[in-house]
Amino acid sequence: MKLWAGRFKKEVDSKVNDFNSSISFDSRMYAQDIRGSIAHATMLGATGIIEEKEADAICRCLEEIKADIDSGELPFDPEAEDIHMFVEAELTRRLGETGKRLHTARSRNDQVALDLRMYLLDHAGELEALLKELVGVLCDLAEEHKETVMPGYTHLQRAQPITFGHHLMAYAQMFLRDLDRLKNWRKLTSSMPLGSGALAATTYPINRDMVRRALGFDKITANSLDGVSDRDFCIELASDLSIIMMHLSRFSEEIILWCSWEFKFIELDDAYATGSSIMPQKKNPDITELVRGKTGRVYGDLMTLLTMMKGLPLAYNKDMQEDKEAIFDALDTVDLCLTTFIPMLRTMTVLKENMRQAAAKGFINATDCADYLVKKGMAFRDAYKITGTLVARCIDEGKTLETLELSAYQEMSGLFEEDIYTAINLEKCAFDRKVPGGPAPQSVQNQIDMTRELLK
Ligand code: ARG
Repeated sequence: MKLWAGRFKKEVDSKVNDFNSSISFDSRMYAQDIRGSIAHATMLGATGIIEEKEADAICRCLEEIKADIDSGELPFDPEAEDIHMFVEAELTRRLGETGKRLHTARSRNDQVALDLRMYLLDHAGELEALLKELVGVLCDLAEEHKETVMPGYTHLQRAQPITFGHHLMAYAQMFLRDLDRLKNWRKLTSSMPLGSGALAATTYPINRDMVRRALGFDKITANSLDGVSDRDFCIELASDLSIIMMHLSRFSEEIILWCSWEFKFIELDDAYATGSSIMPQKKNPDITELVRGKTGRVYGDLMTLLTMMKGLPLAYNKDMQEDKEAIFDALDTVDLCLTTFIPMLRTMTVLKENMRQAAAKGFINATDCADYLVKKGMAFRDAYKITGTLVARCIDEGKTLETLELSAYQEMSGLFEEDIYTAINLEKCAFDRKVPGGPAPQSVQNQIDMTRELLK
């Protein structure tokens, strides 16, 4: 029988019951639900709204229920409408009359707003730990490859020489920003909604600040209507998660390219690649393709949440029950992707020679050739034009800037001397870019040191 049976003349249709029910997906918030209820009951006892000994009994019983769910002894009842009803019904089953007092001065509307915030705050911690681990792996790899020369690209065309360490540290920056975003999200989300009641708070002399302190929130929500109708914290987290996925997806795309025979810059460990059912030669970067694919799924979760909220009048509407599957899916997906991506990255083999060979083709030192003339006094635009002509000549003659003879250079400008070959040496071109933020080994090392400092 439903809790609200008194108001109704009929039992709810079983299909409606299934349709309404959220226990299949909100049961994962049981620990937070119980933690919130213990804080609430303790406050009810301390303020004399219920008797202190009843509050104690409720808290003790809630602890037991928690232990029984933890151990698997108490399975969730699929007939219970949601986790809140389930815990309360179990409490009343065990404690009788006293159990019925827990829901005084509270509604499921402020309860679910609290539980979801707590659940997400708890689990964002795991995510932050994974991101830090990823950035740590990037730093280690970058340190190992701070002198590994590779072509840097624009428009996927070879552009200028960089180091692989530098390329990796670009991703480290992206994930560091993601960590910052989560930190900001945490600050906004740490606002305790219990006490908002169904929508209009309550006439009982509750102590919201006591509950806030017990649950470790920074502040209490300032308006009861907003307290129950706000899901910004879900939307914002989904947005942060979408950005993380976008970063992982770009990285995945590069790894997919690098694994191809056309690039062959890296080789994935056998444990992190898959074969083909028909083509015996294949070694596929499935993990990265799945990460790229799952990015759309997380964007979808964000769109679900934004669309769900856009037309809702204040305060709670049942539409909002849809928040959980979307945000849980986004969270689980990012978790799963990071958990697989990190060891894949850690175990991949970097084929330095292939990177170096690719860097030697494609005239990626052409800018440095022009810069050589500029450093000898020529205006950059003139130097640019001369270098362009030299590149065209190389292409015609099947040469590179390194193999083009000095006389050919000197035909174009008397400023060219023997030292042009040093100036366009790829290592020199990459290693001389040592301004802060540049690809030179020392500069990369500074990036690594600063990043490691931030990770502490
Ligand atoms: N299961 C509900 C949800 O997730 C809990 C809140 C129910 N509130 C209500 N007024 N029906 O949103």
